[in-house]
Amino acid sequence: MRETVTNVTKGAENPANVYVLEHPVVSHNMAALRDADYNPEKYRLALKRVLTLLIYEGTKFLPTIKKSITTPICPTEVDVFDEQTEITLAPILRAGLAFCEIAQEILPMASVQHLGMYRDEKTLTPVWYYNKTFTNPKNPEKNFVFILDPMIATGNSISDAIAGYVNKNIPEENIVCISLLAAPEGIKKVREKFAKVKIVTSNIDEGLDARGYIVPGLGDAGDKAFNTQSM
Ligand code: URA
Repeated sequence: MRETVTNVTKGAENPANVYVLEHPVVSHNMAALRDADYNPEKYRLALKRVLTLLIYEGTKFLPTIKKSITTPICPTEVDVFDEQTEITLAPILRAGLAFCEIAQEILPMASVQHLGMYRDEKTLTPVWYYNKTFTNPKNPEKNFVFILDPMIATGNSISDAIAGYVNKNIPEENIVCISLLAAPEGIKKVREKFAKVKIVTSNIDEGLDARGYIVPGLGDAGDKAFNTQSM
């Protein structure tokens, strides 16, 4: 058993364009997600609470325009989504699916582009098996992409996913990665390659172990989300 690690947020780097959501509801529920004493029902409930807040935090970057409306009391101006804005949700399979259900409730107009990749356990590099990144976005400047990746560990998978969108001319500024947890190594990799991409997470942990798992982390996010730990 490793030694206890405390104050992981305070001790970690928090560079520009990285948004650590410091919120008591998030930290309280993250404790349940991190716990080795796993109960699938409690886990799913805590996951839903944390993801909902992370998705709200990540979507605060969406642009709005002014619109005139009339309330029952008087005319007024309000901020609404620009109708020209196109929203893409890009969940990284498997665990990204849990994010996607909640993100679709908040953004029902979004298109969903699943990204299937698993991690080669020896090289820790992503192996793609499914890629629904659009071939030719009509209006890349107006497209906002949310890459939903539960764990930014080495940063290899998320960097591959971001590259797929940057190569389709989506501006880096329009890409937001939403992640349950991140390691400094993964954050550094994304920052070096794509400095303008935003990262939203609940915490930047201490680092990675020899198997590329986040420490203290929460274990395998996919197995815990789908109760396949013993398989
Ligand atoms: N993926 C996980 O599910 N957990 C980690 O700690 C790292 C990558």
